[in-house]
Amino acid sequence: MQVNDLIFKELIKRGYSLEGKTRVWNIADSKLWYLSPEQAQGFLDLEKSESYQEEIIAKEINLIKANINDILKKVGNKPINIIDLGCGDGKKAEIFIRYLKGKVKLRYCPIDISGYMVEKAMNRMKQLNIGEVVELQWNISDFENLENVANLLRGSQYKDNVFLLLGNTLGNFEINELLYEIRSSMSKGDFLIIGNGLDNRQEKDIIASYNTKEVDDWLFMILSQVGFDRRDLEFNVRFRRSRVELYYTLLRDKKITFQDKSIYFSTGDQILVSVSYKYGRELFKNFMKLYFSDMKLFPSPDGAYALALCRA
Ligand SMILES: C[S@@+](CC[C@H](N)C(=O)[O-])C[C@H]1O[C@@H](n2cnc3c(N)ncnc32)[C@H](O)[C@@H]1O
Repeated sequence: MQVNDLIFKELIKRGYSLEGKTRVWNIADSKLWYLSPEQAQGFLDLEKSESYQEEIIAKEINLIKANINDILKKVGNKPINIIDLGCGDGKKAEIFIRYLKGKVKLRYCPIDISGYMVEKAMNRMKQLNIGEVVELQWNISDFENLENVANLLRGSQYKDNVFLLLGNTLGNFEINELLYEIRSSMSKGDFLIIGNGLDNRQEKDIIASYNTKEVDDWLFMILSQVGFDRRDLEFNVRFRRSRVELYYTLLRDKKITFQDKSIYFSTGDQILVSVSYKYGRELFKNFMKLYFSDMKLFPSPDGAYALALCRA
């Protein structure tokens, strides 16, 4: 079988740490979730599941629709670049863009680590035929390169940038790291619109919402690409340190080889593949205020999701 060298390297590079006597291999990096077209499509399928629709998609879309006029009032009507960070298939950006039709001149620039997603988002926007769609070598990019992209775009008649970070993407990152990255690539007057969950649920309910066959099937694709078999692993979810941790426990010893290197896993080892940070409203607000003195929060009626409109 062909081993995915990127995932293999990540396991070698990060190694394991000991928690008590348990070896924990932490490769929880969202970059590894969308490497193949199957994984990217797997995420789009996961989004269609009832719980995902209910907890994230519907809440975020309703918030966008309910507050778009307020948001647009602040953003103004100068020509803008819409930089869709982690665009996915672009369905959320589409809502903004439809409202902007005829009011604002715009260029859409999707940024995503997955070429599959970028293509989906681009095709969607081209079909809408509302503004220009920016195609450059940086579309398929890690958030780490953001500064380059933002500077490249800020020329010509489109001087202002509106960044979108929707779909709870922030929750999959260490919040300070990603906010710092984005803030550094913004110029004065640029806007950032974040859509993120605000968790006021009990831990057991949070765990239950992640402990599903759909999530397991999608995340398992990471480990199947380095040679793990379904029978090698058990899927588990726990809540620790303000975050949900999704991991696999080894049910038997396993050796994985790529070129001249081997990794030996032992029964009971844990491989952490995903984390999702959960913040209450006040904590989330405080984090945002560290980076943006001009910030407005638009919470959903049930208080479980929010849009944050931030101005640099
Ligand atoms: C949770 S999805 C959200 C998609 C979309 N914004 C939405 O709301 O439907 C996160 C997206 O971010 C992308 N992504 C994850 N890690 C990334 C990274 N380090 N750099 C760039 N894009 C990344 C993924 O490929 C995925 O499309």
